[in-house]
Amino acid sequence: MINRPNMTASLLDIESLSVERIAGLLRMAQEIRAEPERFQDSRQGRLVVNLFYEPSTRTRVSFEIAARRIGMHVVNVAAGGSSVVKGESLLDTYNTIQAMSPDVIVVRHPDSGVLNRLAVATEPGIHLVNAGDGSRAHPTQALLDALTLKQHFEDLSEITVLVAGDLHHSRVTRSGVALMKKLGVGEIRLASPPGFQAGARVTEGTTRFDCLDDALRDVNAVMMLRIQHERLAGADAPDAEVYHREWGLTSERLALADPDCIVMHPGPMNRGVEIASEVADGPSSVIRQQVRNGVYTRMAVLLELTGP
Ligand code: CP
Repeated sequence: MINRPNMTASLLDIESLSVERIAGLLRMAQEIRAEPERFQDSRQGRLVVNLFYEPSTRTRVSFEIAARRIGMHVVNVAAGGSSVVKGESLLDTYNTIQAMSPDVIVVRHPDSGVLNRLAVATEPGIHLVNAGDGSRAHPTQALLDALTLKQHFEDLSEITVLVAGDLHHSRVTRSGVALMKKLGVGEIRLASPPGFQAGARVTEGTTRFDCLDDALRDVNAVMMLRIQHERLAGADAPDAEVYHREWGLTSERLALADPDCIVMHPGPMNRGVEIASEVADGPSSVIRQQVRNGVYTRMAVLLELTGP
């Protein structure tokens, strides 16, 4: 018999997290990175269900690895291989999983805002984690990106971070910018082609550019984003070669940034489109570090939700 903590806390988005809770999660992720053995098997016998209605490599696998490293059991449910294909609604599917008493349900879904509806239906003692809902939120991505920034820069108030590409359809942009604002990043720059601009809530307090070269000047970190083809809703995607010429991060363009600029990308990358291989695999790239930080960050999230 597993004793459940009397907590109903969930992780839905960055906006609803206090600065203290964010600092605690980032601190815990750093501690896990420094001394992983301290946390090993500390949640033995607990259960995580990964319920994914969209494809994923990094997020799903890192939640699974994170859970296993702290001793949790993991069940993966992909919508395509479940009774969703027989017409079962999201809520019925979610409640069916809840009836099997998991400790944590991690959900990815293409519809923005769906996680808030599931949160209302979440039973006491079960914790809901947003692994990406539509173009709205991807809070654990934002946390792992913030951890990566903090590992490279002591004082975030002194740095300039550029986020560039398809900002309009990007949940990474929304959560990432919200978190950088909360952490007091010195200057947040946003650069995007026409049609891919972020909305007013995101752009508030940032500096906007419609030219990548201008935006890159002297930045300390740049995060490149792919075009979210799955969210274009029938609109034509730009030609990949043309896009790369104007919006692709090449070594030549990166030379406009600060000499110690780090290059980030949440993945999956479209090489030769928003980022050249020479940059993705080059000395400034911290893309694999972001992936490693994804495991530490998700371990911290699972530990925090199911603690003490
Ligand atoms: N960054 C990210 O969410 O990647 P996946 O879609 O592979 O999980």
